[in-house]
Amino acid sequence: MKNYITTPIYYVNGEAHIGHAYTTFIADTLARHSRLLGNETYFLTGTDEHGQKIEEAAKKLEKPTQQFADEISASFRNLWDEFDISYDQFIRTTDEDHKKGVQVAFAKMFENGDIYKDFYEGNYCVSCETFFPESQLMDGGCCPDCGRATTIVKEESYFFRLSKYEKPLMEYYEAHSDFILPKSRRNEVMSFVRGGLNDLSVTRTSFNWGIHIPENLNDPKHVMYVWLDALMNYVTALGYGADESKMDFWPAQVQLVGKDILRFHAIYWPAFLMSLGLPLPKHIGAHGWWTRDGEKMSKSKGNVVDPREVAQHYGAENLRYFMMREVPFGQDGDFSQRALIDRMNSDLSNDLGNLLNRIIGMSEKYSDFVIDSVNVEKYHTKELSDAHAVLDSLEIYLKDLQLHRYLEELWKVFSIGNKAIEEHAPWVKIKEGRTDEALATVALVANLLAKASVMLHSIMPSTTATIADALGFEITTASYTDLIIQKGLLKTFTIKKIPPLFPRVEEPLMAEAPKAMIEETAKPEPKKIEDKKESTVSMEGLITIDQFFQTSIKIGTVLEAEEVPKSSKLLKLQVDLGEEAPRQIIAGIREYYSAESLVGTQVCVVANLKPAKLMGMLSEGMILAAKDADGLCLVRPEKPRQSGSSVG
Ligand code: MSP
Repeated sequence: MKNYITTPIYYVNGEAHIGHAYTTFIADTLARHSRLLGNETYFLTGTDEHGQKIEEAAKKLEKPTQQFADEISASFRNLWDEFDISYDQFIRTTDEDHKKGVQVAFAKMFENGDIYKDFYEGNYCVSCETFFPESQLMDGGCCPDCGRATTIVKEESYFFRLSKYEKPLMEYYEAHSDFILPKSRRNEVMSFVRGGLNDLSVTRTSFNWGIHIPENLNDPKHVMYVWLDALMNYVTALGYGADESKMDFWPAQVQLVGKDILRFHAIYWPAFLMSLGLPLPKHIGAHGWWTRDGEKMSKSKGNVVDPREVAQHYGAENLRYFMMREVPFGQDGDFSQRALIDRMNSDLSNDLGNLLNRIIGMSEKYSDFVIDSVNVEKYHTKELSDAHAVLDSLEIYLKDLQLHRYLEELWKVFSIGNKAIEEHAPWVKIKEGRTDEALATVALVANLLAKASVMLHSIMPSTTATIADALGFEITTASYTDLIIQKGLLKTFTIKKIPPLFPRVEEPLMAEAPKAMIEETAKPEPKKIEDKKESTVSMEGLITIDQFFQTSIKIGTVLEAEEVPKSSKLLKLQVDLGEEAPRQIIAGIREYYSAESLVGTQVCVVANLKPAKLMGMLSEGMILAAKDADGLCLVRPEKPRQSGSSVG
């Protein structure tokens, strides 16, 4: 099967931010997944370099437009290289082949009567590079999309007969309910088309930075409308209008776009394709908009999130994971360091990282790092079949672009692993001499980690390659087929001791968006009310939120409890904090709790205290409890949580 996946091509009027990175991450994930499945895959990204907006941006910096475009285009490309984006082609609309292809398309549309010459009079938004009829403008003649002032354009223009495609487009949407994803966006597009389509002005004469219409039309002052030029990149990249070398990748499997440019992709683009007699893409996927700390990102506010900066502080793949896990595809998302840190600590560090560390630690202690799957099926049929059921169900979420659901489901495999360790307590079995059983549990979890890593590979390629390497295999189509499709198990191997992949992050690592900027945009009303309210809390001894987060409090599950001989107060507990081995904690709670009543229950543990000795016994944490005149009670989670979950 051939799979063609595209991102929008990015305007070169400014540097990339996390909004651009998000589209690219999703496309890269889909492309990598497609390759993992063994499909022939072509992944296209690039830059959109023509139009009035770019011309004006270059002028402001007093740079030749081409030089300006070269610089920003290179910066996008470098960024994607730094993020290891696996694009097969990086197209630029200033590429000669592209220009020729667009002219061929224009000529074809002209020949078949879909382009005609007339006169345009109306409003144009330079920022959106869009024409608007007066009826759609906001007060003061402002752009309905971005709110900026529009300019009145009065010029001779060639028009594309968009109105002719109203009916065919509607029929297409009706017949292909998953053409637009998420499906909820389909209605929006359909009602726009139902409202009537005007023919589209597709040339301009008032500026020069663009592709000229074909020479044989003898009209050299006409430059093509930037959206016609830009949309055509998806086929000129495949050789349209030239050698057609890769046209067998067309139609695209998925074309990713932000919701702001869905209209161009779901209306104009299919109409252009119909006019050229080309099939339509299978899916147009429109994602939501990213904000920062609840605010729209903008250069003037100074709050644009630079993906490079985030990657430097938190890791490129952690950012990738966060963006895809945090937000349902199609909905808007908010970037904040706190949200990123929470995801990293809970999903990556606790659930995945700790599981791997535990397996490395246990295999070191019990079998000198050798892991053998020989008894896994004998002792763990249920866990294996539960995990395979999860893994089998994942594909559908990718088809619908629901990456957050994909990851949410995938994480169930780690829960199965963590639960298996808690329930089967290999350290107890080793003590009891049931070595086979203990090693089978360790091998089960190693296999679960391997299988989950394969399915996480397209989202975290380098991290999962490291995990796979530690587990003695490589993530390839062959291992995907073996471990996922055929439900095979790892062959005997020696696990590698690697340093923890996901160290916990305790406090923000990047400077926050400038304060003044945040205040400038904060809603005025509630702020005033808040300002008037005086705090009644004594200021003495107060700590900041960052100081609070220096204390790591975790949910622990009590695995064993016994009375400390010769002590009326102390109990000795073995508490699972989701780490390689349980911690021993000596707690002064014997007067209030019997040892038996604690086994299997959960507690809150201060996990980053220096170990201490109580009555000569090591204590590796402190259990939280509340005490008043009626006695002492433990502080516990309201509902069971995974061992090691952080409390904050
Ligand atoms: N050049 C056009 C696309 C032409 S495709 C034939 C364009 N470029 S853009 O650079 O302005 O935007 C590119 C993509 O980035 C769009 O899909 C847009 O939705 C996305 N984003 C820009 N800012 C964004 C956020 N703040 N959040 C999420 N995505 C955003 O439009």
